[in-house]
Amino acid sequence: MAKPRFYDLIISDVRKDTSSSVEISFEIPKLLSTIFAFVPGQYLTLRADVGGVDVRRSYSICSPVGSDTLSVGVKRIEGGAFSGFALALKIGDVLSVMSPQGRFTAPIGGRHNYLLLAAGSGITPIKSIAQSVLEGEPESTITLCYANRNTDSVMFRQAFDDLKDKYLTRFLMTHVMDEEAQDVALFNGRMDAEKLNTMSIRGLITPLDYDAIYICGPQPMIEAASAALRVLGVPVDRIKCELFTPSSPLPIAGSISVVTPTEGSLIEVVLDGGRRGFRMVAGQMLLDAATQSGLELPYSCANGMCATCRCKLAEGHGTMVQNFSLEPWEMKQGFVLACQFQPESDHVVLDFDAV
Ligand code: FES
Repeated sequence: MAKPRFYDLIISDVRKDTSSSVEISFEIPKLLSTIFAFVPGQYLTLRADVGGVDVRRSYSICSPVGSDTLSVGVKRIEGGAFSGFALALKIGDVLSVMSPQGRFTAPIGGRHNYLLLAAGSGITPIKSIAQSVLEGEPESTITLCYANRNTDSVMFRQAFDDLKDKYLTRFLMTHVMDEEAQDVALFNGRMDAEKLNTMSIRGLITPLDYDAIYICGPQPMIEAASAALRVLGVPVDRIKCELFTPSSPLPIAGSISVVTPTEGSLIEVVLDGGRRGFRMVAGQMLLDAATQSGLELPYSCANGMCATCRCKLAEGHGTMVQNFSLEPWEMKQGFVLACQFQPESDHVVLDFDAV
């Protein structure tokens, strides 16, 4: 995976998908084709000056591997600083785009039987996975359950209809709606533990048969679905989750209990073979302190979800405010998320070059 970097890309197409979402496609110059090669399930971070503020947002790639263009799905978020800006973008606009990142991936090759669970705009990486697997693995099968409020909020409807027609025997798709009555009562409501249990009992899904289960959506849906699948006996390493938004707002750095040295801490950063330092005081977030000192660190969500800011705590001590992306083995080896890191010693070294 290429190191996170921003590149200017030209928008080659903007296609309205639903009343509140668009698919934005980028032209990838030949020179950048290796850098922007991706594994289905990964995302792009878009960056723009919105009202004088440098804003970054991650959007999952929705196009399949091997497609001519690289596309993301963007859904309007009420009051969202970036989505309103993104929905007004047009062909020919140039946007700063980070090379593909993310670990919610389904590498293509071999023969797989996957269950995909998505809610709302959580369908974007799932679409790329479904399409890439069906097109790139002739013997693989996909079962997709997609939860929405109603038909109007279903993203990529036409694309999924096309997939169903093309891969009749290898692609099974079920819609679950909580604001629109379905012919089959089971498909009304939310995709929660009870729903998955019932679907399993009725043989609509067979949780123990899948090579992997990919879940993407809001935090409550992910937690309910993964807990239900574990109760049904699915090994934890077969359940892969991508969190779009945490259900609780990020705590303010100063409001969490950390033992910040009174004079603040000296943070040294190893990045691309160089070493730079800056001071960070109590109540500050590390990314803000770095930016104020003129140092640009790799980050995307700034919320502990994406791991773009993953680095190794090489010296000193500290704690993370929250973590939705690092695995236990990574934390054991000293990896931390810079966007969530609060130092607890006078001097800390964070190594972004460590792998
Ligand atoms: S920037 Fe996403 S986890 Fe830190």
